[in-house]
Amino acid sequence: MYIDEVKGTMKLPERVRIFDTTLRDGEQTPGVALTVDEKIRIAKRLDNLGVDTMEVGFPASSEGERKAAREIVELGLDAHICGLARTIKNDIDAAIDSGTDYIHTFIGTSPLHREYKLKKGKEEILNMAVEAVEHIKDHGITAEFSAEDATRTEFQYLKEVYQAVESANVDYINVPDTVGVMIPVSMRYLISELKNYLKVPLSVHCHNDFGLAVANSLSAVEAGAEQVHVTINGLGERAGNASLEEVVMALSIDYGVDMNINTRLLMDASEQVSRITGIRMPPNKAIVGENAFAHEAGIHVHGVLEKAETYEPLTPEMVGHSRKIVLGKHTGANAIKSKLDEFGIELTGEQFDQIYDQVKKLGDKGKCVTDADLKAMSETVLGRAENEVVKLEGFTVMTGDNVMPTATVKLNIDGKIGTAARTGVGPVDAAINAIKSLMSETAHMELKEYNIEAITGGPDSLAEVFVIVGDKKGNNAIGRSAAEDIVLASVEAVLYAINRILVEK
Ligand code: KIV
Ligand code: ZN
Repeated sequence: MYIDEVKGTMKLPERVRIFDTTLRDGEQTPGVALTVDEKIRIAKRLDNLGVDTMEVGFPASSEGERKAAREIVELGLDAHICGLARTIKNDIDAAIDSGTDYIHTFIGTSPLHREYKLKKGKEEILNMAVEAVEHIKDHGITAEFSAEDATRTEFQYLKEVYQAVESANVDYINVPDTVGVMIPVSMRYLISELKNYLKVPLSVHCHNDFGLAVANSLSAVEAGAEQVHVTINGLGERAGNASLEEVVMALSIDYGVDMNINTRLLMDASEQVSRITGIRMPPNKAIVGENAFAHEAGIHVHGVLEKAETYEPLTPEMVGHSRKIVLGKHTGANAIKSKLDEFGIELTGEQFDQIYDQVKKLGDKGKCVTDADLKAMSETVLGRAENEVVKLEGFTVMTGDNVMPTATVKLNIDGKIGTAARTGVGPVDAAINAIKSLMSETAHMELKEYNIEAITGGPDSLAEVFVIVGDKKGNNAIGRSAAEDIVLASVEAVLYAINRILVEK
């Protein structure tokens, strides 16, 4: 928005290259370690997605890393396959031996790195950077150079190092915000300044320590950076790297920049990486979170159903996601109606009111009603006999460790109120025994089958109970009900079946 007003202040490149580092920095996510086979599966997915380059690991670090790099190279993917290497000959040779056609070499340049990590002076570090790039280029391999901790390096020195590697014919210069300290305006300034001195394409690698990795990457592009380092789901060291899906969608929708990414595969890629790494996305994660296209509030749902753009800046289809209308306490009648239409469920006004009340009551108790819940509730309402002979007036159950489960059930049987208390092996059994005893004067009913399911599987899931009840004359009826309370669902299901037998009689 307001892009036309500000575009003049930007130096957006025609096309931005996507350098994916899920298999390298992403694998450095605490607790994540990928097998060769897992890396291969992710690499194939990244290639389908259309990343320009994928950094597949740090070949010098282990035999497994070299094997993974080699096997990914052998797949003959479209993307460049990159190996990471310190500016050390052995590291670079390990990447060369793995057959990667692209090497990303790095050395720390900030005072902290020079003094405490490397214990080397400025000149030595600059020379190591140049020699590394020369060594890579001597092998005819694409070279990218990173000044690690670039954003905490003195500008003058950073510029010198970058100019030196440019003279050594480096192909890409990367600016890592190694500990995520930049803010968007300073990133824009830094890249603009570097652009005054360098001709090779610039790249950025932003970490998310302050939650600004995506914003900083976008700012770098505004200043003319031609490439961004990203990871699926924003995986990476500590708080992670800029997330591929967020950067790509913002660049494409908000900035109108071209990339080679098939955005419809983003959701699949995110889910696969999440499954393989065990790092689950929070529901409110942009683009790929479960709630990214979910709507609950009545006003929002009404708007979305009329025209999706009212509350969606991009369509779920664009990223391979799906829209979800969640029913809860904010839900309006419109949303429930539209869901029922979608499932082809037709209800009378009275039946609809029952569903509406149930959704609101569940919502007030903090529960969201899933599609499966709604279908089960509708089945229950639809199957209720129009003229119920037996109605539930109320029930209580008592159960516990040292108590004999006891239920007291109050029924209205054809206008006559009766109450009975019975025990059982559990509260459901006790409640059914109480119903049987109350019904004994009208008809002898037997429970022939009883099945219970938790619809969505969680502890707050609705319980759906199916029963078959029969009388002495061989009349059988199915009963079903869905409720949060197992005993209530069971009692309702049994009464439902009893009513069907009695009404049919
Ligand atoms: O964050 C970082 O600085 C890195 C380098 C290896 C580029 O990951
Ligand atoms: Zn990093």
